[in-house]
Amino acid sequence: MAKIPVSFADLTGNEEKYVAEAVRSSWISSTGPYVQRFEREFAEMCGTRAAVGVCNGTVALHLALLAMDVRPGDEVLVPSLTYVATANACRYVGAEPVFVDVDPETWCIDPHRIEDSVTRRTRGVIPVDLYGHPADMDAINQFAAVHGLWVVEDAAEAHLAQYRGQPVGGLADMTTFSFYGNKIFTCGEGGAITLSAPQLELRTRTLRGQGVDPSRRYFFPVTGYNFRLSNLACALLCAQFERREGLLTARRRVFSRYRERLTGIEGIGFQPVAPWAEPAPWMFCITVHEAAYGRSRDELAEILASEEIETRPFFVPLHRLPMFREESQRRGEQLPVTERLASSGLNLPTYSQLSDEDLDRVCEVIRTHRR
Ligand SMILES: Cc1ncc(COP(=O)(O)O)c(C=O)c1O
Repeated sequence: MAKIPVSFADLTGNEEKYVAEAVRSSWISSTGPYVQRFEREFAEMCGTRAAVGVCNGTVALHLALLAMDVRPGDEVLVPSLTYVATANACRYVGAEPVFVDVDPETWCIDPHRIEDSVTRRTRGVIPVDLYGHPADMDAINQFAAVHGLWVVEDAAEAHLAQYRGQPVGGLADMTTFSFYGNKIFTCGEGGAITLSAPQLELRTRTLRGQGVDPSRRYFFPVTGYNFRLSNLACALLCAQFERREGLLTARRRVFSRYRERLTGIEGIGFQPVAPWAEPAPWMFCITVHEAAYGRSRDELAEILASEEIETRPFFVPLHRLPMFREESQRRGEQLPVTERLASSGLNLPTYSQLSDEDLDRVCEVIRTHRR
């Protein structure tokens, strides 16, 4: 019985050819034609004036907060149900992540709950497009405008998701992406920031490239970073973008077949889709309601693992992690929706080359082990 991984990068187009071309040309660092092509094409796809490539999605968040001039003592509103990088980035710049519960209808930060967490020190909000579903950006932007806050959208998992007919990427002051190996578009390790404000772009590019003054060689007026993305990585991304329709269609097929095959199994729930959202088909999610299914999420994951089927539990809520727990308790944060989802959610194998037979086998194991 062949193992079914939870994700698998599809590199079957021009990926190898373009990387070989980059190697032959000797453009292997962060200058070269693929870097420019990647940034141009990704900005176009996101409907923004610019895209700035960086070395991963965590760095994209860090750089966005640096560009927003976030300082020690500032507070940033974030969901607790997200990957740890969202909150770590706040700590990198000395700010404190303040955790807000998620909306049961989107699994993203709840716009009705953010107001309660605002203090004099709040500077911004980082909505996360969890598991490919966009956050309710109109409500969040409106809230931010009223309170004079910036918005950095963490769309690491939501490549080409749409919000009210608009692609994710141009809906916030800055939007960050990851191109890690399990993402819809990947270069192994990579990331980007999309944005449209010219001054902010200049600041972002300067900080990304060691803070160098473009008109004076080896003159560095500010403390910058080396957060650049290589031409080799961009070669992979350019090849991935050529096949974007095919990659998305193949993943959408996986999503709809899972829904069809798992519908009607008592105790198994699906990720909700808001009427205004077209989520990115990143990782298919189920929730396991222990009382109705007869087993816990962890029991089901173990059974699937014993059948050589890899899965991922949902993220451990960040307010439960040792480095954030105490501050969260001091603030008295109550996040019941986050807790419920985190203990019941499971990601199933999702990738463009997942065969119908393998997908059906996953569903069969889930169906037959209900008690
Ligand atoms: C929501 C979210 N934000 C940020 C990141 C960090 O991206 P990277 O792994 O490329 O650093 C990830 C994970 O990959 C993520 O899922």
